[in-house]
Amino acid sequence: MTDTNAAFTPRVFSGIQPSGGLHLGNYLGAIKRFVDMQGEDFQTVYCMVDLHAITVWQNPTDLRKNTRELCAGFIAAGIDPEQSILINQSQVPEHAQLAWIFNCVARMGWMQRMTQWKDKAGKNTQNASLGLLAYPALMAADILIYHATHVPVGEDQKQHLELTRDIAIKFNHDYGVEFFPLTEPVIEGAATRVMSLRDGSKKMSKSDASDMSRINLTDDADAIAQKIRKARTDPEPLPETLDGLAERPEARNLVNIYAALAETTADAVIAEYGGQQFGTFKPALADLAVERLAPISTEMARLMGEQDEIDRILTRGAERAREITAPILKKTYDIVGMVPPAI
Ligand code: AMP
Ligand code: TRP
Repeated sequence: MTDTNAAFTPRVFSGIQPSGGLHLGNYLGAIKRFVDMQGEDFQTVYCMVDLHAITVWQNPTDLRKNTRELCAGFIAAGIDPEQSILINQSQVPEHAQLAWIFNCVARMGWMQRMTQWKDKAGKNTQNASLGLLAYPALMAADILIYHATHVPVGEDQKQHLELTRDIAIKFNHDYGVEFFPLTEPVIEGAATRVMSLRDGSKKMSKSDASDMSRINLTDDADAIAQKIRKARTDPEPLPETLDGLAERPEARNLVNIYAALAETTADAVIAEYGGQQFGTFKPALADLAVERLAPISTEMARLMGEQDEIDRILTRGAERAREITAPILKKTYDIVGMVPPAI
């Protein structure tokens, strides 16, 4: 932690969009890391960012279902709703309120440089929602409304976290305060960027047209094993050292996935499987993936049958969250110069 953050309670915040279809990339790059960060060192807050999801069109019925399914996924993967605060973003209004302030701190040029904006808006930027452009200011608000010091995410979110720091720096500077911390990204583990099983140059994504390109957290054991058996590879055996994977993205991806699931390093996997054919490695990876992932999909399915329980967990999470966010918003308004209600 930087000195700037020494004054802040160590607190973790992260979020995932409830836009349907959790996959192995979300699990290894994000959710598994969320689980690992629970414990003595940090207070942990995890969020289903429904307000982010609607920056592109969401069918309302699907959005509700996907939010509950994401909550089930978090819990099934090991997030304890007692230990962590588990919320959906729209139930904690201070996120959106702080986002407005940050819309007035962030600059247009910063937003237009974001790669996620460029990718998602595509060529027809005039037809993208204003929310899609403003998205990173809401993300900064999600984090800073908790004064969060650490944010675990996959590699693709790094740029947004740099922007979060830029917003905190500009706010602190413009108002002459040291109010918002400079959040540290936590991009760690053997699989911070899980690639497609069909193409080692593309990241595993819910928007890929081929279902064979990804392992969904709702896949059963047979589907998981089949997707790994059919994953694209090259004809060479695994190399004896990690350097030998430099030009072999598909092989590298499977080694990274194995390492992350086994909670070891890519080096250790190569030490064990170097020189072996994919005919040996793939079945071992399939067994490991089924062992780790099948219990999650079973538990997710069970929890999806307990909707009332999920809704209660989210309601309680929002109450706990607002104990943190309401005072921080109040102080922000005060710094900015808003007249408070008379008591
Ligand atoms: P998203 O589904 O895009 O909202 O992503 C949710 C979280 O999963 C973020 O922390 C992402 O960085 C992470 N993530 C998404 N896709 C991948 C991937 N292919 N590899 C690693 N992390 C990922
Ligand atoms: N932008 C993130 C994604 O697309 C989701 C997100 C929203 C997030 N707010 C956040 C992640 C705050 C970390 C912290 O995956």
